[in-house]
Amino acid sequence: MPPRTSSTASRPSARSGARSARTPRTAGTGPVGDGNGHARRQVSSQPWLHQRGAEVQEFGTVRQFPLGLSHDARLYSCERLDQVLADTQILYALYKKHHWLMRGATFYQLHLLLDKHAGEQLELVDMIAERVQTLGGVAVGDPRHVAEITTIPRPPNGAEEVPAMLSRLLEAHETILIDAHDAAARTAEMGDDGTNDLLVSDVIRTGEMQAWFLAEHLVDTPLVRA
Ligand SMILES: [Fe+2]
Repeated sequence: MPPRTSSTASRPSARSGARSARTPRTAGTGPVGDGNGHARRQVSSQPWLHQRGAEVQEFGTVRQFPLGLSHDARLYSCERLDQVLADTQILYALYKKHHWLMRGATFYQLHLLLDKHAGEQLELVDMIAERVQTLGGVAVGDPRHVAEITTIPRPPNGAEEVPAMLSRLLEAHETILIDAHDAAARTAEMGDDGTNDLLVSDVIRTGEMQAWFLAEHLVDTPLVRA
């Protein structure tokens, strides 16, 4: 009689997944004997669901990575980058909000422009977050955590007049630019050239360009007659 190689009854269930994750023999994947003195490995296609685990790295800490940068330099850069990251995530969300809520004679142009800027900000979010991870830190990711950290004022839940929405975006840009200039200078002083480069070449250059495009829409110029 062939040996039993699997047991449906012993696989982790939706209810017992977390407990089963720590007891692999009862989950059907531990080594078992085949009756001839050979170890066999049971297999199962059942995902181990509803798992929970310990927090393995606290926010605000850095792991030791061999990058030629001191612990303090990497910790400082992560702190500054997480601030820029939180504000950039809020700027991205503001761009999408105003892309949706746009109205008036220039609706189509601004609707498209704000979405383009949102896409570029989203690329920055990923670059900044991955710089934090590269340095051994923890990138701020959950939007509720972002909301606790950001310095950009919350807008009303409803729609504002178009020039007010554009001004709000410009002010968010300036908040980030001021912080990024300072962070770029200080991280360079501490030897973190990569973070300095990201802040200058990407965050600042992109932000300045987008601010220019927004500001030109706030020039009160006649559309038809000079
Ligand atoms: Fe859209």
